[in-house]
Amino acid sequence: MMKNKICLVTGANTGIGLATAIALCMKGARVIVASRSKEKAMGTMEAIREELPHAELDYALADLSSQKQIREMAAVLKNTYSNLDVLINNAGAWFSEFGLTEDGIERQWAINHLAPFLLTQQLLPLLSQAEDPRIITVSSDSHFHGKIHFDDVNLSQNYHGLRAYAQSKLANVLFTREFERRKTVPKLSSYAVQPGLVKTDIGLKHTLSLHGLAWKIRRLGGKSPEKGAETSVYLASSEEVRGISGGYWDKCKQKKPSNNAASSSDAARLWELSKEMCGIDTYFEG
Ligand SMILES: NC(=O)c1ccc[n+]([C@@H]2O[C@H](COP(=O)([O-])OP(=O)(O)OC[C@H]3O[C@@H](n4cnc5c(N)ncnc54)[C@H](OP(=O)(O)O)[C@@H]3O)[C@@H](O)[C@H]2O)c1
Repeated sequence: MMKNKICLVTGANTGIGLATAIALCMKGARVIVASRSKEKAMGTMEAIREELPHAELDYALADLSSQKQIREMAAVLKNTYSNLDVLINNAGAWFSEFGLTEDGIERQWAINHLAPFLLTQQLLPLLSQAEDPRIITVSSDSHFHGKIHFDDVNLSQNYHGLRAYAQSKLANVLFTREFERRKTVPKLSSYAVQPGLVKTDIGLKHTLSLHGLAWKIRRLGGKSPEKGAETSVYLASSEEVRGISGGYWDKCKQKKPSNNAASSSDAARLWELSKEMCGIDTYFEG
């Protein structure tokens, strides 16, 4: 059970994130629904309470494509809470077409990789106050097709949605592993997750019609969001994974990630690049 545990789930208003939030509430946790819209967050809390009237819920707001909004959301959370037990970096996006955020960063790189990197760093003071803090970052087996294009992470010269998505999901695995290597607070645990192919609308939201059709066909073979949430919920709640940190998980078991995800030099290089892109001098203060 997770009574008295506080969990923040990004992208909790729909898909795998919503299923994760509901499962954590069922275990008795207090869940902070992170969303980019107050309306969506309130609607989500209402929907969860219809199913679970005693669910302990709160919400936090940020468009994760904006580093300013990530910092503002973290500041609000630090003013409100004294600790955070579980951070689930679940929010993610797919874009068929190239585009830059307000920070001048390619959108999938910003939302899928830099947002978890920065949000985790901003919430370290709260996580460090928990007894057994866990950071779960939702990656994907798409990372097996990825490489980090260090000379042009924005892919401004050769953008393709799949290339950008795979790169960002590889970065999730490298981040998780490098976090484990560099952390200065031993009790902090990090986990990267493959949820499997899940029937959600991720491939329909910012998508050319041909890509949308391909996603509709592909997801027919997918699992439910509830099933897709299982590994994240397991890693958030299970006693047996305490301290088994830095790895890649699928179906509630550790799995060997891609060869590119096993490169120590890429992990270190990505860490420095991500710090620079987020304007962070020292990731682990103190
Ligand atoms: N579905 C799959 O088969 C699959 C497979 C492997 C990995 N994944 C990963 O699973 C995670 C969840 O995806 P999903 O399939 O559940 O997709 P989804 O239903 O589209 O949910 C994605 C969530 O992320 C939020 N989000 C996207 N961009 C955001 C932004 N700029 N700021 C704040 N929130 C933002 C969305 O909010 P809005 O509702 O406001 O858009 C939504 O709540 C992602 O990291 C994805 O890469 C999915």
